[in-house]
Amino acid sequence: MSSSTNKPSKVLVLGGSRGIGAAIVRRFAAQGAHVTFTYVNSRESAEKLAAQTGSKALHLDSADRTALISTIESLGAIDVLVANAGVLRTGNPLEISPVEIDYLFQVNINASYHAAVSAAKNMPDNGRIVLIGSTNADRIPMGNASAYAASKSALQGMVKGLARDFGERGITVNVVQPGPTDTDMNPANGPRKDFMHSFMAIKRHVKDEEVAAMVAWLASAEANMVTGAALTVDGGFAA
Ligand SMILES: NC(=O)c1ccc[n+]([C@@H]2O[C@H](COP(=O)([O-])OP(=O)(O)OC[C@H]3O[C@@H](n4cnc5c(N)ncnc54)[C@H](OP(=O)(O)O)[C@@H]3O)[C@@H](O)[C@H]2O)c1
Repeated sequence: MSSSTNKPSKVLVLGGSRGIGAAIVRRFAAQGAHVTFTYVNSRESAEKLAAQTGSKALHLDSADRTALISTIESLGAIDVLVANAGVLRTGNPLEISPVEIDYLFQVNINASYHAAVSAAKNMPDNGRIVLIGSTNADRIPMGNASAYAASKSALQGMVKGLARDFGERGITVNVVQPGPTDTDMNPANGPRKDFMHSFMAIKRHVKDEEVAAMVAWLASAEANMVTGAALTVDGGFAA
């Protein structure tokens, strides 16, 4: 990938079968990139998206560290890695199962780290690593979501450190932090929409393609010098 054009030819999106990940797959595929994306449960959506966009769907649970690392390394030189796969578990911390919390940390934190490092091994100069975090890393104005918020805050430190580790090769590492975004995880017509909009300057859900647009910009030559940053797309939720 040349630093003047940064036209990504090979893109890997972890968790691309639905929601924000699917919008990122569509965005890069529309730019003519060869896109591979992973999924776990949504086989039908994954196959449909792959057929629509000419991308390739791989069944891979990000929580399976061995499979994650070997799959990424086997893909060779990836220009852009987007670690989007994420899970939300809410509930009273005194009651929620520690197994569920460990799984959340595995998918949201551990997999993001191992994927970034595995992809960096064969990544060409000026490659891109984008993690999908959350505005809840900066602001969590409700209870029962501490593990989720912690998992997304961890990504802020992760991108700062990895940006320094890979900066010599022109590889940038950033986290994109969506606010309430209209997906299965957080539908725009859900029962908590008014509560969430009450924290926003622009009182509507973010659209998945608005998050994908930020990811695409980070992958472009215009963002060559943006690294170690948290870029928030949240309608002012954390403002
Ligand atoms: N929606 C929001 O309001 C919002 C706000 C801030 C941040 N985010 C973050 O944005 C990212 C995407 O969220 P979303 O709203 O699009 O969620 P979503 O609608 O629940 O979709 C999640 C996607 O991730 C995949 N995925 C989940 N666990 C996985 C695993 N263990 N391995 C591989 N893929 C996995 C799912 O695949 P399968 O269905 O195939 O299992 C699906 O494609 C997450 O990191 C989330 O935390 C979302």
